[in-house]
Formats: sequence, C-alpha cells, structure tokens
Amino acid sequence: MNKIYGEGETAVHALKDVSFSIKRGELLLIVGSSGSGKSTLLNMIGLLDRPTSGKIFLDGTETTTLNDNEISSFRNSKLGFVFQFANLLSDLTVLENILLPRKIQRTDKNAVDDAKKLLRTVGLEKQMNNRANKISGGQAQRAAIARGLINSPSIVLADEPTGNLDSVTAEIIVQLMKSLVKKLGQTFIIVTHDKHQFGDVDRVITIKDGRAFEEEEQRGMEVAAS
Ligand SMILES: Nc1ncnc2c1ncn2[C@@H]1O[C@H](COP(=O)(O)OP(=O)(O)OP(=O)(O)O)[C@@H](O)[C@H]1O
Ligand SMILES: [Mg+2]
Repeated sequence: MNKIYGEGETAVHALKDVSFSIKRGELLLIVGSSGSGKSTLLNMIGLLDRPTSGKIFLDGTETTTLNDNEISSFRNSKLGFVFQFANLLSDLTVLENILLPRKIQRTDKNAVDDAKKLLRTVGLEKQMNNRANKISGGQAQRAAIARGLINSPSIVLADEPTGNLDSVTAEIIVQLMKSLVKKLGQTFIIVTHDKHQFGDVDRVITIKDGRAFEEEEQRGMEVAAS
C-alpha cells in the first residue's frame, strides 16, 4: 500500500509499499519517529483516508473498492477508535458517551446493558452517571476505550492512547488494553512512541520514513509457530 499526500514538487510519499497482516486477537504495536507515517498508516487501516495505491482487507472485505457510504457503515460496525485525547462530550454522562457510537447504528435494546458491562470491565462503573468533564484524564481514557469497544469491533485502533497521561496512569491504560486482548480476544493496533511501556506484545512494526519493518525476533517466532 502507498500513500502520497499532495502532488508534484510538494508531494509527500508518506507510506511506501507497506504490507502486513494481523490475526484476530493480536496486539500489534506501531512505532517510529515523528513524521515517519504511523498516523497515516492508522488512518488507512481505519478507513479515515484512502491509500493512493494498494488494497486493504478487513475481515475479508477489500475496503478500497467501497464507496463513501459503505465505508462509513463498515467503519462504524467493524472498527473502534481511541485517540490521544479522549474527546468525550462534556455535557453528556460517561454512560451516554459510551453509547454514542451505538446510536448511529440504531440497532438495539441491549445497548445500555452492554455499555454498563463495558464500564465495569474498564473499572468505571461508579463514574458512569458522572458528567464526562467531572472525571480524571485516566478515567476519560478508560471511557474512550469502552466507547471504542461498544460496537464489538473487529479491530480497535489507538493512536498514542497514553500520550496525554502521566506514566502511572499510562501503565494502567496499557494493562487495561492488554487485559482486553486476553479477556475478550480483542484485536488492537496501537501507535506508540514508547513500546517499553507495553512490555511483551505479540508484534511490533517499526515505520521508518514511510516503510514498515517487523522486528526480527518477532518474525522468527511467527515462522517457528507456523
Ligand atoms: N494531511 C496531510 N497532508 C500532507 N502531508 C501530510 C498529511 N498528514 C501527514 N502528512 C505528512 O506525512 C508524513 C507522515 O505523517 P504522520 O502524521 O503519519 O506521521 P507520524 O508518524 O504519525 O508522526 P507523529 O509521531 O509526529 O504523530 C509526514 O511527513 C507528514 O508531514
Ligand atoms: Mg501521529
């Protein structure tokens, strides 16, 4: 897959022949220096932007051929997002925030039960009726993770989810995401500038000047396992 921003002399070749696959239930870290292309890659996988060339398969669907409407509904049903800032709506309660992506889907009666269950999972059951601007940064990020999970997405994409947190709170969020991989078999793709924060993870891809490299030891393990 390639992504080129702009045209002519000012064009930026942000992703160069990037190719990889991820299995259900894996936690994949994307690391690399500032400007290397990490967010660009996440935006491609998250269908927030289209690659200039190449294909992206999600759950067996070739997404680059979908039209904008199809992409929106695919994104809402199959993907969850967590960003550096929780971006909760401050006038709503924590619970209402978690339910927002579900409303777009208009499917269900079980939404509130599911949201409460998720809030228990992320340790926010006591805060669920608090206004979103009355909770701490770490709690807000836990709420954002619950919001990212509410539609049972195939993949949760997280761009620097701990980037705005102190190291102790960041550690709690990291452990929460890792426990969700174990407990729910949730697939995560996480951009981070601090892979050591994550300890042992399934896979690490390093982006260097738009190219993707998978760590040798990890690749070795994968070969050995197959
Ligand atoms: N919308 C855009 N238009 C033009 N160029 C862009 C755009 N978004 C990103 N770029 C360029 O593409 C390259 C990769 O940017 P990207 O945001 O993916 O980097 P990053 O690895 O996420 O960096 P950071 O760690 O600072 O967040 C950079 O050279 C950047 O300037
Ligand atoms: Mg970025």
